Amino acid sequence: MEKVVASAPGKVILFGEHFVVYDRPAIVSAINLRAYVEAWKYDEPGVWIRGRRLSNHPASRAIEYIFGKTGFTSGISLKISSDIPASVGLGSSASISVASAATASLLSLKKIDIELVKAAAVEGEKIVHFNPSGIDTTIALYGGGGVYRKSSGFMHVDIPLKKILIVNTGRIRKTGEMVKRVKDFMEQNKERFNMMLEKEEEIIRDAFDAFKNMDLEKLGKLMLENQNLLRELGVSSMEIDEAIKLALDAGAYGAKITGAGGGGCVICLVDEDKIERISKALSSKFKTYLTELSAVGLKEEKT
Ligand code: MEV
Repeated sequence: MEKVVASAPGKVILFGEHFVVYDRPAIVSAINLRAYVEAWKYDEPGVWIRGRRLSNHPASRAIEYIFGKTGFTSGISLKISSDIPASVGLGSSASISVASAATASLLSLKKIDIELVKAAAVEGEKIVHFNPSGIDTTIALYGGGGVYRKSSGFMHVDIPLKKILIVNTGRIRKTGEMVKRVKDFMEQNKERFNMMLEKEEEIIRDAFDAFKNMDLEKLGKLMLENQNLLRELGVSSMEIDEAIKLALDAGAYGAKITGAGGGGCVICLVDEDKIERISKALSSKFKTYLTELSAVGLKEEKT
């Protein structure tokens, strides 16, 4: 039976999560943790995993979108495996949606139609994200790193940083709930929220300058400023604050939430020679991953 396989990377948002939903820029990078989807044509219509029908899931929604557009009337059977921990801000569901949509495109069109996959994955993300900016699906699709803005899309910018230390607080949460929390904040604090949007944009501009010179001290400070804004929005948590404090005390330049917050993951900017010390300081409480940045995007894998 014909089998197709695709993979897509997870991501870290270096600066700008949540504000990106309100059409501000964010700096994002693909990471070297990936989701893999194997797929076969299935006799019964629908999306199936180990003989059970999958519905109301980002992957099934994305696939149904593709089959609706391409007129493919058979079903599809999937096997999903992923290195990306789920529901902690690393883009796991987007990478699964993108890779799943790609397999549907391969089965029905015999090629990956990037625009179709993109539209399908955004449909899939609506299930978990409430009002997705599209950043997670975009970076899973294109990989690398750069700046994303809802209204203008993705622009590759070389991010000279090679690695980042990710700390998983272990608290899972729903992105959609966090996005709603920020919406409530915005509605109750309109004037302050507008000032925060301006401040975030300034942080992003300064971050690009700091990246150009690889000024890690400056970048670390900017991460902490970004984190203060996220804390004010109400998306930080006790675990996040604790992880950040441990990382800073052990010598990190800066640290912040990555993704929706409310738990999930923190990213820490660290010198290579301090990685061991900082990881050790965090490891009594949290799981850490030293992750490579600017990983390759959606890929058809050999079967
Ligand atoms: C989630 O990875 C990033 C958020 O900004 C939501 C979104 O942009 O869709 C929290």
